[in-house]
Amino acid sequence: MTKRLSLAIALLTAIAAIGGLIGFQGGVPSPSEAVAAAEGAEKIPAPPQTSATPWTAPDQEAAKKRAQEFVPFVEAVMEECDLCRQMRLRETGLGIKDITNSYFLLDSPIIKKTEDLYGPVRFKHSKHASQLKDCALCHHRRPLDAKAKETTRCSACHQEAFRSDQPERLGLKAAFHQQCTGCHQEMQKGPTDCLGCHRKNVPDHKELVKLPEKPEPTQVTQECLRCHKAAGEDMLKTAHWLWKGPSPYTLNRSKHVEHGKATSAVNNF
Ligand code: HEC
Ligand code: HEC
Ligand code: HEC
Ligand code: HEC
Ligand code: HEC
Repeated sequence: MTKRLSLAIALLTAIAAIGGLIGFQGGVPSPSEAVAAAEGAEKIPAPPQTSATPWTAPDQEAAKKRAQEFVPFVEAVMEECDLCRQMRLRETGLGIKDITNSYFLLDSPIIKKTEDLYGPVRFKHSKHASQLKDCALCHHRRPLDAKAKETTRCSACHQEAFRSDQPERLGLKAAFHQQCTGCHQEMQKGPTDCLGCHRKNVPDHKELVKLPEKPEPTQVTQECLRCHKAAGEDMLKTAHWLWKGPSPYTLNRSKHVEHGKATSAVNNF
């Protein structure tokens, strides 16, 4: 029982850290406020700080659906040099007016089949296009098929990694990482750290955590441990839990006493 009690203290500290996840959401705009603010200024407001905030993009639902669409694989790709492509696209007049979606959630089922560490990556398409002024920077190849779009989606050509039939093509995850992060590095603008683009897949704790009206500290700990068993066990191996040392009063005495959290001092209050 005593172990549980101080685990409660430790976990309460953690709760403070994730306060935003389980309730204290003052200051975060409601979806309607966010949309209203967005219409006043920039089309798409900045991404929220945590995945649990209630903000959604104006076309969030459509963006979610788009992310799940399967695009048939394109075998034959038109060969042209980067500069030729850039010039050709400029001549055809391809520009902002041809953008059909100002916003994408990148959350490909192809990638998620093998890895699912994070929530969808938000990508402000129109903002990028208007700032970079060159569609070919990202839409760097087109299918050979003359009927296909110049701006065919990345996932039509980049799918699973190491396909034996297309060994020179990167898998979709690498294609995104290399192009997105590569440009950010080169221009020294835009995020290059993982959490600049990814938010952890942390579910909304307002719904997960079930507690009575005025919970005892131990009840809170119990509730967290229902899902975070490993975190509880890790805690028992940390210095916070195990710390102890000789008592200054018993140094150089015949009876030596070890004092500290691991024995009596704090873990045993
Ligand atoms: C500039 C943006 C950007 C940065 C920076 C970035 N990524 Fe990604 N990452 C993406 C995109 C886009 C995808 C593809 C998302 C999709 O379609 O599912 C992706 C996919 C992934 C995936 C597979 C999907 C998943 O949810 O598990 C992993 C794992 C991943 N990234 C790890 C990292 C790590 C680790 C770093 C830091 C070293 C990093 N990324 C930095 C944009 C970024
Ligand atoms: C910074 C990179 C970048 C730039 C610049 C860019 N795009 Fe895109 N575009 C993307 C990404 C990423 C997607 C989503 C691809 C996917 O889902 O596989 C996309 C998707 C699209 C789509 C939707 C394709 C479909 O079939 O649904 C169109 C249309 C498009 N872009 C047009 C344009 C035009 C026109 C320009 C230039 C004015 C442009 N893009 C500039 C990265 C870019
Ligand atoms: C029509 C097919 C096609 C489309 C669409 C396509 N790619 Fe590629 N991509 C290729 C091929 C083929 C290669 C292999 C090397 C080459 O030809 O440049 C490649 C190579 C790459 C590379 C390796 C570096 C380089 O430039 O050669 C990156 C990064 C990349 N693609 C990212 C993307 C992203 C991101 C998108 C979507 C915005 C995209 N690709 C759309 C066909 C395509
Ligand atoms: C050719 C260059 C280029 C490519 C490719 C590119 N970006 Fe960016 N990105 C930028 C620049 C420049 C900024 C800085 C914009 C600013 O701060 O005003 C930026 C900013 C961002 C930001 C932070 C600001 C915002 O708009 O939310 C995110 C997130 C981001 N990029 C994601 C991506 C993802 C995901 C991809 C790949 C699908 C990508 N970028 C591809 C140039 C690029
Ligand atoms: C019904 C299950 C459930 C309950 C109950 C629960 N969590 Fe979580 N929690 C999760 C899941 C799932 C994640 C995301 C995966 C992960 O990071 O382990 C998560 C993530 C977290 C994270 C983020 C971890 C990180 O690395 O970013 C913190 C902090 C956290 N929980 C604290 C708590 C606390 C404190 C409590 C008790 C008040 C609690 N959780 C109760 C399921 C739960």
